[in-house]
Amino acid sequence: MAVASFFSWFSVLPLVFSLALLSGYSLAGDPFISYVFEVSYITASPLGVPQQVIAINGKFPGPVINATTNYNVDVNVFNRLDEPILFTWNGIEIQGASWQDGVLGTNCPIPPNWNFTYNFQLKDQIGSFFYFPSLNFQKASGGFGPIIINNRDLVPIPFNKPDGEISFMIGDWYTQNHTALRGVLDSGNELGMPDGVLINGKGPYKYNTNVPDGIQYETVNVDPGKTYRIRVHNVGISTSLNFRIQNHKLLLIETEGRYNSQTNFTDFDIHVGQSYSFLVTMDQNASSDYYIVASARFVNETVWQRVTGVGILHYSNSKGQASGPLPVPATDVSHPWSVMNQQRAIKQNTSASGARPNPQGSYHYGQINITSTYILRSMPPTKINGTFRATLNGISFLNPSTPMRLADKHRVKGGVYKLDFPDRPPSDNTPPRLESSIINATYKGFIQVIFQNNDTKVQSFHIDGYSFYVVAMDFGNWTEDREGSYNNWDAISRSTVEVYPGAWTAVLLSLDNVGVWNIRVQNLDRWYLGQETYIRIINPEENGSTEMDQPGNALYCGALKSLQKDQLHSSATSLLDGKLNLVFSLVMALVALVSVFC
Ligand SMILES: *[C@@H]1O[C@H](CO)[C@@H](O)[C@H](O)[C@H]1NC(C)=O
Ligand SMILES: *[C@@H]1O[C@H](CO)[C@@H](O)[C@H](O)[C@H]1NC(C)=O
Ligand SMILES: *[C@@H]1O[C@H](CO)[C@@H](O)[C@H](O)[C@H]1NC(C)=O
Ligand SMILES: *[C@@H]1O[C@H](CO)[C@@H](O)[C@H](O)[C@H]1NC(C)=O
Ligand SMILES: *[C@@H]1O[C@H](CO)[C@@H](O)[C@H](O)[C@H]1NC(C)=O
Ligand SMILES: *[C@@H]1O[C@H](CO)[C@@H](O)[C@H](O)[C@H]1NC(C)=O
Ligand SMILES: *[C@@H]1O[C@H](CO)[C@@H](O)[C@H](O)[C@H]1NC(C)=O
Ligand SMILES: *[C@@H]1O[C@H](CO)[C@@H](O)[C@H](O)[C@H]1NC(C)=O
Ligand SMILES: *[C@@H]1O[C@H](CO)[C@@H](O)[C@H](O)[C@H]1NC(C)=O
Ligand SMILES: *[C@@H]1O[C@H](CO)[C@@H](O)[C@H](O)[C@H]1NC(C)=O
Ligand SMILES: *[C@@H]1O[C@H](CO)[C@@H](O)[C@H](O)[C@H]1NC(C)=O
Ligand SMILES: *[C@@H]1O[C@H](CO)[C@@H](O)[C@H](O)[C@H]1NC(C)=O
Repeated sequence: MAVASFFSWFSVLPLVFSLALLSGYSLAGDPFISYVFEVSYITASPLGVPQQVIAINGKFPGPVINATTNYNVDVNVFNRLDEPILFTWNGIEIQGASWQDGVLGTNCPIPPNWNFTYNFQLKDQIGSFFYFPSLNFQKASGGFGPIIINNRDLVPIPFNKPDGEISFMIGDWYTQNHTALRGVLDSGNELGMPDGVLINGKGPYKYNTNVPDGIQYETVNVDPGKTYRIRVHNVGISTSLNFRIQNHKLLLIETEGRYNSQTNFTDFDIHVGQSYSFLVTMDQNASSDYYIVASARFVNETVWQRVTGVGILHYSNSKGQASGPLPVPATDVSHPWSVMNQQRAIKQNTSASGARPNPQGSYHYGQINITSTYILRSMPPTKINGTFRATLNGISFLNPSTPMRLADKHRVKGGVYKLDFPDRPPSDNTPPRLESSIINATYKGFIQVIFQNNDTKVQSFHIDGYSFYVVAMDFGNWTEDREGSYNNWDAISRSTVEVYPGAWTAVLLSLDNVGVWNIRVQNLDRWYLGQETYIRIINPEENGSTEMDQPGNALYCGALKSLQKDQLHSSATSLLDGKLNLVFSLVMALVALVSVFC
């Protein structure tokens, strides 16, 4: 809970927790919760081949950040890798503080052996999200973990309290490490088929003879008759996955922070970077264990068979092991319409309470006039000046060496970026270019963004700091007359949406969160190749209330490098930091104990 799980290694948890409680309230009255992330390499063999994996506090995947609406979270990240790192909080709408969103456009990287404390508030949010390292393809080696924002006690949830909760981090996986994968892209090649799918950092159960012996797989223990809330995140690199539990219904209840109209599915497509919650009732007869499956989607599934994650659902009264063939998805991807219909079925439950006691649907987004339209078209990778790059509207993004908001704040001369990102794709004969070009948006505008996928793979698009209403998706090219067919009533609001190849997805958003926010494709290979930009929203009457000031601990780099003071801990003492923390906590705990008894 309010403790870094680092400490939980040494059963001092309750003491540290009570100490944290004592000091744990902000002036605004919202609780504080603190985590320490020791980020390091460990060796693991999820697919039977030893490889280097990024762990947090020795764990892969990393610990859960478990908090409640409006909590202030701080995460002190100690970098024990040989590369700089940053963490981004996928789906968290950090208000007025893009300073805390760990992506290169807003933050200087944390150098090896340095630490940096993120501090952000989970303002007005509930639901299921995740964090991951945003630099250098590191996510392909791990470093991710779940974020749970619970409802405050006074806000009702639109279903009975589940008997338990389980998080699944599912994703495609390569046995090559992130440096090697970067090398593949840098040399102008596609990554090719992944080596497997991991479920919570573990490889597949031996469901057939193609799976090597001795692989550690995920087992989830459940009791018959109980209902569990299952949170599923696709933390993979680039593969859309179909998630299913043999013989069990998945009742979809939450989509990235919104309660949706509850709908049963036998299987569900989860695209890269997306999160969902399902209620699953253990209503089967336990004649055997059941398969939990996450398999590659929108590819030739015969060829991609090895890209299948298999875990085990084990009833406490189970009479035997799971066996036989895996269950197959009910929807057939060779019929694109049926696939798109599953996604279209996700509707907001307008009468349910969200983070506040009033109904989620009380904000009538459908009645607001659209102030601007941005059509962002993604194209397959191409060579620009000899390097393999991917583009949005003909631009492959180059991150400036000085983070943009920091450069604004310190008035870096000459400017490090341009505010001229085009709102329409270029004509077909315009050559693609490399630019640090971002969107100059108007504060309080109500915009529509059309993601148009001209690539050959399913992509998912994400905007940091915001959630948006997914009002329509269709095949072909978007045209203005499609606005008449938008769902203006109960569209789901989320932060990552899929866009099928040769298709478009339209989203609406209200530009009320000041800052510079990343717009990216979540498919890591395309993102790495430059398929991203930022949207800059500045309140012209800024008086310190809509944007927080730069935090005191902000790191400096690029043109502002000279402002950076050296950190006290050098590489030689780095390993001690965690232990010193522990010693300090133990001493404090003793002091607390002594004061109780004296
Ligand atoms: C998160 O915290 C709540 C209490 O605030 C607790 O009931 C729940 O079990 C915790 N979940 C996890 C995954 O730790
Ligand atoms: C590094 O960690 C220390 C505590 O160990 C903390 O006081 C300091 O603020 C952190 N540094 C940054 C830049 O956040
Ligand atoms: C990553 O893989 C490459 C190529 O296999 C290897 O040379 C390198 O040592 C690995 N890097 C790390 C940090 O393990
Ligand atoms: C979902 O399926 C379960 C089990 O079959 C059933 O009890 C429940 O009523 C269904 N719920 C909805 C909303 O369809
Ligand atoms: C248990 O359920 C399975 C799957 O629905 C079924 O095939 C089997 O016959 C059932 N066994 C018993 C003993 O009811
Ligand atoms: C999938 O690949 C197999 C083997 O190469 C091939 O026979 C089959 O036609 C392919 N299916 C589709 C739908 O392309
Ligand atoms: C919507 O939320 C309400 C709670 O306000 C709940 O009673 C109802 O069952 C939900 N409807 C659906 C379809 O999820
Ligand atoms: C929206 O636009 C319509 C037509 O241009 C106009 O009549 C209406 O007043 C506008 N509504 C708002 C809330 O600005
Ligand atoms: C290619 O590189 C040259 C030299 O660095 C530069 O002047 C030119 O603008 C680049 N072209 C593109 C399309 O980025
Ligand atoms: C950015 O947009 C604002 C209005 O929202 C405008 O005043 C400003 O001139 C624009 N800046 C540039 C460089 O286009
Ligand atoms: C969609 O737009 C692209 C780019 O302008 C064009 O090449 C293509 O033919 C269009 N597709 C359809 C189905 O109209
Ligand atoms: C992409 O655009 C090209 C022309 O610009 C068009 O020929 C092609 O059909 C499009 N492909 C997809 C998947 O949209």
